[in-house]
Amino acid sequence: MDTFPENITKTLRAGITTASAAETEGLGVRLAHVVPDDTWVALRGDLGAGKTTFARGFARGMGIKEDITSPTFAIFVPYTGTSRQLVHMDAYRLNGPDDLDSLMLDDCLRPPYILLLEWPERLRDTLPHDTWHITFRSIGEARRNIRLQTPPSATL
Ligand SMILES: Nc1ncnc2c1ncn2[C@@H]1O[C@H](COP(=O)(O)OP(=O)(O)OP(=O)(O)O)[C@@H](O)[C@H]1O
Ligand SMILES: [Mg+2]
Repeated sequence: MDTFPENITKTLRAGITTASAAETEGLGVRLAHVVPDDTWVALRGDLGAGKTTFARGFARGMGIKEDITSPTFAIFVPYTGTSRQLVHMDAYRLNGPDDLDSLMLDDCLRPPYILLLEWPERLRDTLPHDTWHITFRSIGEARRNIRLQTPPSATL
C-alpha cells in the first residue's frame, strides 16, 4: 500500500515507461489502492500494449486471487475483491455502444466496484464523465509508456 497515494497518480500522470510486464503489473497493483469506488478506468492502447497485464496487477491490488486473462467468450467478467468488486471488460468485439444494452452491464455493476475497460473506443462517447483514462504505448519489444489522465473531479 502506498503511504502517499498521490505518488502513484502523480507518477502515472507524468507518464512512465516500464521495461517489463512485471513492472507494468506493479503499477496496476499500486493504482488499485487509490482509485475511488465506482470508477470506470478506460485502458487504451494497441494490441499487446499491456492493458490486460496492467489489469492483472490491478486485480491483485484489489485482493483478487484468480488470474485475470483476456475475456475471450464473455465481454466482461466480474471478480470479488477484498472490499469491492472488479469488473474487467474487453469491448474489442463490440460494434458500438448499442451492443452493450443487451449485456446487462448495469445489473452487474453493484457498488462499490471498479470497472476496467479495454478498448473503450468501441463505446465511443458513452463513458461516464468521471472516467479515468490510461494510455499504453509500445516502445519496442519490452518497453511500454503508460500515462494516466484523471477527470477534473479527481482529488488525488
Ligand atoms: N513493459 C511491458 N509491459 C506490459 N507488457 C509487456 C511489457 N513488455 C512485454 N510485455 C508483453 O506484452 C504483452 C502485453 O499483452 P497484454 O495482453 O497485456 O496486451 P493488451 O493491451 O491487453 O492487448 P489486447 O488488445 O490484445 O487485449 C504480454 O505478452 C507481455 O508479457
Ligand atoms: Mg487485453
